[in-house]
Amino acid sequence: MLLVLICHLLLTINSVSTQSRLYGPGLRASFQVPVRYFYLESHDLKGNKLNYSSERVDRIEFHLTRSSDQHSAHSYRKVDDLHDGTYLFRFRLYESVENLQLFIRFGKEDINYVIKGYLYSDGCYCPQTNITQWFDSLECSSALSTTQLRADLKLFDKIDMNTIIPKAKEKYFQHPQTYALCHYVIKDNTIYRKCHGEHVGFKMFSDAILLSLSRKVVLPDVEFLMNLGDYPLSSGDDPLPIISWCGSEQTYDIILPTYDITEATLQMLSRTSLDIFAMLTTRDVPWSKKNPKGFFRGRDSCRERLDLVRLSKKHPDLIDANLTRMFFFRDQISEFQPFSEQVPMNKFFDYKYQISLDGTVASYRFPYLLAGDGLIFKQASSFYEHFYRDLAPNQHYIPIKKDLSDLIEKLQWAKKHDEEAQKIVKRSQRFTRQNLLPNHILCYHVNVLQEYAKRLISPVQVLPDMELVQHESDESHIKKDECICHRSKSLNHIDL
Ligand SMILES: *[C@@H]1O[C@H](CO)[C@@H](O)[C@H](O)[C@H]1NC(C)=O
Ligand SMILES: *[C@@H]1O[C@H](CO)[C@@H](O)[C@H](O)[C@H]1NC(C)=O
Ligand SMILES: *[C@@H]1O[C@H](CO)[C@@H](O)[C@H](O)[C@H]1NC(C)=O
Repeated sequence: MLLVLICHLLLTINSVSTQSRLYGPGLRASFQVPVRYFYLESHDLKGNKLNYSSERVDRIEFHLTRSSDQHSAHSYRKVDDLHDGTYLFRFRLYESVENLQLFIRFGKEDINYVIKGYLYSDGCYCPQTNITQWFDSLECSSALSTTQLRADLKLFDKIDMNTIIPKAKEKYFQHPQTYALCHYVIKDNTIYRKCHGEHVGFKMFSDAILLSLSRKVVLPDVEFLMNLGDYPLSSGDDPLPIISWCGSEQTYDIILPTYDITEATLQMLSRTSLDIFAMLTTRDVPWSKKNPKGFFRGRDSCRERLDLVRLSKKHPDLIDANLTRMFFFRDQISEFQPFSEQVPMNKFFDYKYQISLDGTVASYRFPYLLAGDGLIFKQASSFYEHFYRDLAPNQHYIPIKKDLSDLIEKLQWAKKHDEEAQKIVKRSQRFTRQNLLPNHILCYHVNVLQEYAKRLISPVQVLPDMELVQHESDESHIKKDECICHRSKSLNHIDL
């Protein structure tokens, strides 16, 4: 509230004709996510909120300067149009700054704003010691859904690693060709692990998020098994509390956000270009001009993907589906050649209807489809990600049978009920804004670690054969992060 007031004050001071309003979490220093974000709401001269784009993004100026010396802050910045009169401003800082000054030129308006306090770059080791305060500063305390986590932890009231590790050895570690798991220990906010399996390359994803979190908040001491494979593992009469990226109705794994959406959160505006915001701002084709067909491109990672392409040949007026590659069903290759080109995700939304089929497990593109401007037809599946429980069929997407037998009928329904279809799309986009933005992804991880740690009854000990997981000294690949942490005095007890 105070910030909004200050914002208004600054706007009034700077120019009388100013009509825009800034709002959003990125205007607070303590909202520390890899890429900070806030919004500009445009108004007309009478002060009414505009509901259409009045300015082209390439004409909007956006600069960041340090208050201390008025030099520009080392950062990467991006402005996107949300197509409803609001604009999304994002920036990734490569240095720590106290009292960061924003300057925005929007049409004839010059907007100045100062973010008070210390802003740390993502690479800066400067963890907040109080987890509760960290959740508050990320606006997670009330907003974060724990539906899935509560269900996952039901079976695991007391977790004793002294009995779990020997069982895991027998069940998993002894089969290195089949399973890939890392045994992680977090002690004094330092991360250690020992991995088991022949293909443990995906540890780079679990390492990256744990390191990133430990730079932001002091994590609880905790010890757990992280499954690096596609398939959830925890099964049988005596299931182990294994942490995985994907769940299924037949297994009991504790689910984290997938490595895909987590990586997109950590590497936003850097190594990755696909993220929730990129999909929320894609509006290349207005709804009425979109091709009213069900769209699909992908590889042959489950049988129904082949069936969908066959269906598309029978109903080319309703479905445009092709494979881009074949790997699993090579014996049927001749039927599907020539393959179609890979289509970038934003081009998916030239079509009104998006068909979402399983991959080998849950299809990790689903969050991006939800964020995009298209109606989703989601195949029934026993696999799920951490947020599926909060989605409702026919509210956020149209459910279709696993064997696709009702797809044609449902596509025809959607064509006849265009208004209802658009409402569902709006609802699913709102869902992604409330559940799948960077703060939600970071908080969900910490929530899992915290709730899991509460249930641990064995002492957390670093084993002699564990490897220390180290912070990369230069994650920015642009310039070494300039990190000045004003909290470092109180962090003295932690081994930096
Ligand atoms: C924008 O607002 C005007 C006036 O309030 C309204 O008539 C119009 O339907 C709105 N357009 C959209 C796309 O919401
Ligand atoms: C952490 O912060 C919360 C909220 O400000 C406070 O109630 C709690 O006592 C703090 N915990 C510790 C250990 O300081
Ligand atoms: C995709 O498949 C449809 C038939 O469903 C076909 O008409 C179209 O040419 C194919 N497109 C590409 C790019 O392969």
